[in-house]
Amino acid sequence: MGFTLLNLIPPYLSGVIVDRVLLRGEKELLWQVVLLVIGATFLKSAARYFYRLIFEHISQDVVYQIRMNLYQKLQELDFTFFDQARTGDLMTRMSGDADAVRHFISWVAFSLVENVAIFSFALITLFAINYQLALVLMACTPLICLLALRLSIKVKPAFFGIREQLSKLNSVVQENISGNRVVKAFAKEEYEISKFSTENDGFKEKNLQAIRIWERYLPALDAACGGLTVVLLLVGGLMVIKGALTIGRLVIFNSFLWTLSYPLRNLGWLINDLQRFVAAAAQILALLEAEPKIKNSPTPLRKERLEGQVELVNVSFSQESGEVLREVSFTARPGETVAIVGPTGSGKSTLVNLICRFYEVMDGEILIDGVNIKEYDLTCLRSNIAVAMQDVFLFSDTIEGNIAYGLPDAGLEEVQQAARTAGAHDFITKLPAGYDTIVGERGVGLSGGQKQRIALARALLKDPAILILDDTTSSVDLETERAIQQNLKSLYKKKTIFVIAHRISSVCNADLILTLKNGRIIEAGKHEELVARKGYYYTVFQHQYGDFDLAGSEEAK
Ligand SMILES: Nc1ncnc2c1ncn2[C@@H]1O[C@H](COP(=O)(O)OP(=O)(O)OP(=O)(O)O)[C@@H](O)[C@H]1O
Ligand SMILES: [Mg+2]
Repeated sequence: MGFTLLNLIPPYLSGVIVDRVLLRGEKELLWQVVLLVIGATFLKSAARYFYRLIFEHISQDVVYQIRMNLYQKLQELDFTFFDQARTGDLMTRMSGDADAVRHFISWVAFSLVENVAIFSFALITLFAINYQLALVLMACTPLICLLALRLSIKVKPAFFGIREQLSKLNSVVQENISGNRVVKAFAKEEYEISKFSTENDGFKEKNLQAIRIWERYLPALDAACGGLTVVLLLVGGLMVIKGALTIGRLVIFNSFLWTLSYPLRNLGWLINDLQRFVAAAAQILALLEAEPKIKNSPTPLRKERLEGQVELVNVSFSQESGEVLREVSFTARPGETVAIVGPTGSGKSTLVNLICRFYEVMDGEILIDGVNIKEYDLTCLRSNIAVAMQDVFLFSDTIEGNIAYGLPDAGLEEVQQAARTAGAHDFITKLPAGYDTIVGERGVGLSGGQKQRIALARALLKDPAILILDDTTSSVDLETERAIQQNLKSLYKKKTIFVIAHRISSVCNADLILTLKNGRIIEAGKHEELVARKGYYYTVFQHQYGDFDLAGSEEAK
């Protein structure tokens, strides 16, 4: 505020020079006035410098905290949220929206205060000098105000359009980069370029739309502001001629004109920036307020080590697309291997997702060691379960870093042991940098089976009570798969293992095989029992092995 007053000193003093130095000949006053102008200008620059320094720091601190909170929120949110969220949107919240807030704090908020202050101080000063002339000028300002407001109203949808179009443009680029292999495989480069070109054209067009609105209103605004000068010279000139105003005061009025027109002209911009800030802040708040569906129980049960008895009692689950699981019941005791087979889309992955409490059971209950999983502390529950997911995801890190993801303190020896069990050690040591090999984004540079085995090693290193392998060896050759199975059998005697697979060879040795179809268990038992039942399992077995008796053959062991 004080610094705004400094802005008004030089124009005020220019009038003093005219009246007292030029007209009354008080020459000694000139130096004092000049010194005052220099002092005011210096102080104003220094104040502006410190102001910027402080507000830039505050805005950086605020935006840092916003980014931190958003990121923490993303860690809290569950599968249901990410099933629906678009990566591009979330990235915009973290970058563009957060930056809009920073811009508001560091620039817009101050400009708003500054403009209001300049306008009010100027008005008070002008009224004090000559209220009649001030009133005449005031009468002209509503027109400028109106024009600035109309401009902001007209340009608002265009600005929102630009933001939305930028989001679309980013999505196209992001998908194209992630899916570049599919693009190449289908030779769809031209199509992708035309898709991008459409969005790029749209972006340019939206920007031009905004510019056209500005172009329409700016000349009118300029003319209205110019009109102020005309009115001042006309009315002020007449008053000077009549002796109702000194020339010096007219000069002050003239020097103060910008202090009236400048804030009014800025009004349109500032309102727009304010709207952008409100929109961005609303998006950020919506994300910060998003509540995960899976919540910790108010009195969470923490157990360092679970035994691993898993019991499902009449579990049902639906997605928006419809029913996925229906009245599923079974028990897996510690040390047992439960295999889940069934046609694609029958609900196998969903079933194990429920055991990890990635989604909430809708009907029935899941008990681990006799306690409903909803009662366990989420971190405790999940640290007792290790999952090698169907959709393998590796981080862009070294192989060692990827395997040790769940247990960062693990030594190389432990990492290697997990890799040996997962049948990955041999191929890793053959890589040029061994365990220090950096795998690209999502594991680019490794074969499908290699990625699966690293994901398996990552799960094994956690040394959990419950191990879930969702289609983990589907891309691994039979020989390696059998070695992995033998390793697991000898090393993981006390663990409960869930194996989901389409291959009979992956499941035939399990203690319990469940066949899922349309979300229901249609068969349950050991390999021999299911073969004897001559149902779904038997048909799959027949397709994979013909009449060959797997149970009795050496191949299967
Ligand atoms: N996030 C989701 N949102 C909506 N529907 C889903 C979601 N995940 C799975 N489904 C639906 O639930 C059903 C079961 O899916 P699930 O992934 O459990 O099958 P699956 O048995 O693991 O299949 P696959 O053998 O192909 O891995 C499918 O019909 C699928 O469309
Ligand atoms: Mg699946």
